[in-house]
Amino acid sequence: MTQATDGLYWDLENDIAQVIFSQEEIATRIAALGRAISDDYIGKDLVLVGVLRGVVFFMADLMRAITLPVSYDFIAISRYGPTAETRGVVRLTKDLDEHIEGRHVLFVEDVVDTGLTSNYILKNLGAREPISLQACVLFDRPRRRLIDLNIAYKGFELPDLFVVGYGLDYQQKYRNLPYVATLKPEALNDHK
Ligand code: PRP
Repeated sequence: MTQATDGLYWDLENDIAQVIFSQEEIATRIAALGRAISDDYIGKDLVLVGVLRGVVFFMADLMRAITLPVSYDFIAISRYGPTAETRGVVRLTKDLDEHIEGRHVLFVEDVVDTGLTSNYILKNLGAREPISLQACVLFDRPRRRLIDLNIAYKGFELPDLFVVGYGLDYQQKYRNLPYVATLKPEALNDHK
């Protein structure tokens, strides 16, 4: 068992194989992202937009690392399926509550793999005519990328491993671990 949190999450940590990014590393990186964003958006009407659900942990910490007036909003999506025609095509199941036209929008994602989800959502947000639209991604897995994405703010590059924690789940579990880690093989019964 990995004692990454002094055993506090013992029931979850029994399943952990290796910590990839510690709680401290994540906090330090997010503080730096927050400083960079605060410098770049000074005097601007900034709204952060995230896609539910994994991003809520990053959103909450990133927002508190930004020292400017800032608002935030979420959209929720469902995916159509894995075929060539439907990959990356998503349906909005919850739209924004805020209007973003004429505002500076920072799209916030916890993880980007193929880039298809982000690409679709960035196009959708861009069509609403914000003044600017940039992306901030905590965990980037560029080796899985199927489409070019311009990411202005990146936290970490993730190795091509299946990981959980800090919002990332396996069958909706492990999101509340404060670090990112791999699971023991026996904890994965039908690894996606
Ligand atoms: C994750 C992440 C992105 C998407 C990225 O969501 O939050 O939305 O996958 O993958 P892509 O770059 O290959 O399109 P997930 O489906 O795990 O849902 P969740 O946020 O509810 O965990």
